[in-house]
Amino acid sequence: MTDSTTPAADSTSIESLLHENRHFPPSPEFAANAIAKPGIYDTAAADRLGFWANRSRELLTWRTPFAETLDWSGAPVARWFADGTLNVAENCLDRHVAAGNGDRVAIHWEGEPGDTRTLSYAELTTEVKKAANALAALGVGKGDRVAIYLPMIPEAAIAMLACARLGAIHSVVFGGFSAESLRARIDDAQAKLVITADGGWRKGKVFPLKPTVDSALAGFENAAEYDGPAETVEHVLVVQRGENEVAWHEGRDLWWHEAVGGASEEHEPEAFEAETPLFILYTSGTTGKPKGILHTSGGYLTQAAFTHRNVFDLHPETDVYWCTADIGWITGHSYVVYGPLANGATQVMYEGTPDTPHPGRWWELIQKYGVSIFYTAPTAIRSFMKAGREIPQGFDLSSIRVLGTVGEPINPEAWIWYHDVIGGGTAPIVDTWWQTETGAIMVSPLPGITDLKPGSAQKALPGISLAVLAEDGEPLARGAGGLLSITEPWPSMLRGIWGDMDRYVETYWSKFPNGVPGSQAGGPAYFAGDGARTDEDGDLWLLGRVDDVMNVSGHRLSTAEIESALVAHPSVAEAAVVGASDETTGQAVVAFVILKSRFADEMAVDAPDLLRAHVGQQIGAIARPRDVFIVAELPKTRSGKIMRRLLRDVAEGRDIGDTTTLADTTVMDIIADKMKAAPAED
Ligand code: WT7
Repeated sequence: MTDSTTPAADSTSIESLLHENRHFPPSPEFAANAIAKPGIYDTAAADRLGFWANRSRELLTWRTPFAETLDWSGAPVARWFADGTLNVAENCLDRHVAAGNGDRVAIHWEGEPGDTRTLSYAELTTEVKKAANALAALGVGKGDRVAIYLPMIPEAAIAMLACARLGAIHSVVFGGFSAESLRARIDDAQAKLVITADGGWRKGKVFPLKPTVDSALAGFENAAEYDGPAETVEHVLVVQRGENEVAWHEGRDLWWHEAVGGASEEHEPEAFEAETPLFILYTSGTTGKPKGILHTSGGYLTQAAFTHRNVFDLHPETDVYWCTADIGWITGHSYVVYGPLANGATQVMYEGTPDTPHPGRWWELIQKYGVSIFYTAPTAIRSFMKAGREIPQGFDLSSIRVLGTVGEPINPEAWIWYHDVIGGGTAPIVDTWWQTETGAIMVSPLPGITDLKPGSAQKALPGISLAVLAEDGEPLARGAGGLLSITEPWPSMLRGIWGDMDRYVETYWSKFPNGVPGSQAGGPAYFAGDGARTDEDGDLWLLGRVDDVMNVSGHRLSTAEIESALVAHPSVAEAAVVGASDETTGQAVVAFVILKSRFADEMAVDAPDLLRAHVGQQIGAIARPRDVFIVAELPKTRSGKIMRRLLRDVAEGRDIGDTTTLADTTVMDIIADKMKAAPAED
């Protein structure tokens, strides 16, 4: 599993980061109107549970008020606000209409071809009520799982909220995942309904979704064991978007515009207990099988709403907010759907890619809608930097007042560019650290309060307790690098891994079983899987994953998952995958492959392209390796473990350090020679 606990970033880059000494204090004007007031940290520290209880009461509408804030007696499974009841969809919709804000725009949607839709809170509420009625008519009810495989169209949010309204559990699968990945997720969750579209627009073309669902549900004849048709799925609900031709399975398939279009606009939301599961979202871990991260209702919505309001300084009456994340990732769940809608925000939602039909499309949308809060990933910022500042400078971005980043560390150079070119030199940047598992932002500056430091995610939010720990769980002094740990339960924490509670305990809670001294809740501390270090001011610097998980363009990929996809190919004998640092994407997938001897000669030339395509087809385009190197040997320890650190060194062109633990020290020379001889890849 883990070959070393050394953080992925190399020590020279850490040193140069820590010498970053530019500071950006908040302007007095910003601070005067900021949502978060400086006293917030002390208030939360004085009474952490009371702080969260008050935030929950203030930000959400409870049907039955809760009396108990946290029950940690079943650690590591927390129960937050457990004796309260609420309806998540009602909190995101109906109550805003009831408060007189029905005419406020909830979503300014822009399709990639330039078609648009505007949905007010009243209209969105009606659409969700109709969808809830249609889903209920298909037999979807409390606790049922619904797989959602859609492009970035309003129906994605509507489908999620319709599930929430019924107490059903959605499992959104990113539209870029393959039929195999989709099928694995449908089977693991035992979904009874799949909501998809015929296709969606991407890069000027329609990409098919329904055909992928069809092959996922039909099963795979080339699978190791033919897995037959999916057994749990009763219906497929299809939104018409791409207008591409689709096959139709009578009795199973239904058009959304017929089923939802014909449904009643009346729907009374039922109140559910706070710990009612809200969604499952799959993410990669250190093994080949993705983990279904389970989130529940009251605590999740509390922290999503609180962080969205305070971290982005949201003034819902005047701000126009835009988060560029796809609904298929946790950022799309918490900061496109649940956080913004719970807060009654007006937001932009965009279907396509940033450079279609022209490289300034995003900036054009900011200008068009007067976006004031903009949240995106460092990888996107770096690719815009490469394309040149003339492109954004061709648009009026003066409406921007807060910028955010998420997914990976932002290098100071990209931070400064973002600040100057997109933020007009004045907008504060919030670098937000969190994970699919944490559900909501955990570490970030607070605009108007924090003295910003480019490259650092800075502070645990009020109500969040973190520590940087040594391997043995000992808290480390400032300046020392170690493992990031969350030392008290938090409202939006995951409640488990779907169907595998042992893996939940093992992955997150077995590293620090005794927690840290002075913990109020007691019990184990959460192991995040990230390396981190605090500087002399107590600001946090994230140093990358410490396990075999890669971060490519802010998306999590597992080395083991890609390796198992590679070895599933008939020509592959062995494979090792590493994340090598990449200027634009943060990390890139690099694979080292040994071919079976009978294929070695005939395939050596074509294998890299063939295997890249194979991984794309097995997992999805995001997992396709940047480079595939065909090698004769892999570096292994005497006990047979692949030494990924060495492969990473080779993949990044570094000198190979100490190889004395290698079983066969000549292996690395062979690999290094091979790489020198390899033609440059795209
Ligand atoms: C991993 C979580 C949270 C939504 C997007 C990714 C890395 C995330 C930052 C940041 C440094 C970051 C961590 C984390 N990460 N945000 N601001 N600075 N690293 O969600 O797929 O669950 O991945 O992304 O390594 O563990 P995810």
